[in-house]
Amino acid sequence: MDGTFNDNDLSRVIDADKAHVWHHLTQHKPFESADPRIIVEGKGLRVWDQSGKEHLDAVSGGVWTVNVGYGRESIAKAVYDQLMKLCYFAQSAGSIPGSQFAEKLIDKMPGMSRVYYTNSGSEANEKAFKMIRQIAHKRYGGKKHKILYRDRDYHGGTLATMSAGGQDERAMQYGPLAPGFVRVPHCLEYRAQWDLTGEDYGQRAADAIEEVILAEGPDTVGGLCLEPVTAGGGVITPPPGYWERVQEICRKYDILLHIDEVVCGVGRTGTHWFGYQHYGIKPDFVTMAKGVASGYAAIACCVTTEAVFDMFKDDAADPMNYFRDISTFGGCTAGPAAALENMRIIEDENLLENTTAMGARMIDNLSGLMEKHRVVGDVRGKGLFCGAELVADRATKEPVSEAQVKQVVAECNAQGVIIGASNRSVPGLNNVLCFSPALIASADDIDEITGAVDVALTRVFG
Ligand SMILES: Cc1ncc(COP(=O)(O)O)c(C=O)c1O
Repeated sequence: MDGTFNDNDLSRVIDADKAHVWHHLTQHKPFESADPRIIVEGKGLRVWDQSGKEHLDAVSGGVWTVNVGYGRESIAKAVYDQLMKLCYFAQSAGSIPGSQFAEKLIDKMPGMSRVYYTNSGSEANEKAFKMIRQIAHKRYGGKKHKILYRDRDYHGGTLATMSAGGQDERAMQYGPLAPGFVRVPHCLEYRAQWDLTGEDYGQRAADAIEEVILAEGPDTVGGLCLEPVTAGGGVITPPPGYWERVQEICRKYDILLHIDEVVCGVGRTGTHWFGYQHYGIKPDFVTMAKGVASGYAAIACCVTTEAVFDMFKDDAADPMNYFRDISTFGGCTAGPAAALENMRIIEDENLLENTTAMGARMIDNLSGLMEKHRVVGDVRGKGLFCGAELVADRATKEPVSEAQVKQVVAECNAQGVIIGASNRSVPGLNNVLCFSPALIASADDIDEITGAVDVALTRVFG
């Protein structure tokens, strides 16, 4: 830390935090006897807390966000320069960084064509839902309005995105939820719902989507919203054959495919810019947020094809037919300015390649832990987006307790490594450790992370 933070400031900051700040996803009772953690500074993959303790951040800002790492002066400078030129104008007009970033982004997304700016992942998803609904009204008299979502996926904390959320613990006590969202089964082979493996399993899990469509009535289903790799629901990589079949089903029933890249997008899964690009699918909507500007500014995008956009152009015939939506902070120019520089860094530093190589190393290391610790039941991941599922018994796959998962996280913290775990997601299955370090991670960083997990597992489970 740079030493500008003295003990006096520190106790005032902690007091003010305890008195006035409501932390996300946090029970506050423990703060009556312990101080909350306050992160003061970051550089590369490291952050420093209020006591000056250094941590290796293996979760990119807690929630897979700071993809290019902390302390990037060039992004801060791009944002500063843009803010001094023009901080804001409503996105009903254009802006220089808004058009520059849209052009650069679309260049990475063959088949896609239009970028709708907004300011959070939830909001980007809601924009896609609204577009799907409006298309249902424009083309099908409102009938084809249902949106399918998958068990264990997450699409945000607003009421509509929670209604499309496959993590019941996030939605409990917030009902009634919005109608018109219908759940399809998850595709995690480790917790198999069908007695099949590999490609057969992938096809069967996709066929389960078709069964839901047929049960609901194909003329009522307008959209299917899926994460390419499920994130908070347990880092679920799709089985082989799954996505190909999903695409066929969407085409067969004229269902718009909405891919939620809020976590996977902009390099997280390695090699490709977006998770869906690993599977050769052609979505109608792609939403993204977190890694778009690595947290240096708030920005989210709902990206569509020209075919979708065309359906909203016929406003001369009906003045209500265009997309009557606005997101105030979708007009902030800091977001696209930061996003442009973020993308330049990923390209110039070959971070897509690094992510693939380091992701493979992480999976290798975690697989090694699986051999050593019986409690590691499954290891999954794509790029620098990995998970390890902890089970009390490998035969029955009974999950370890949440308290034990918390202990493992705490033991990693004690060694100066911040890892994540599935949290308030699927009842009984908050048992997956999550790793998503910045895309700049080195082999030493990866080894330090998995080394800390090794020690933590020994301390908690022997
Ligand atoms: C896959 C996915 N979609 C959407 C969201 C919601 O994004 P936000 O918190 O920016 O609204 C999240 C947040 O964690 C997410 O993981």
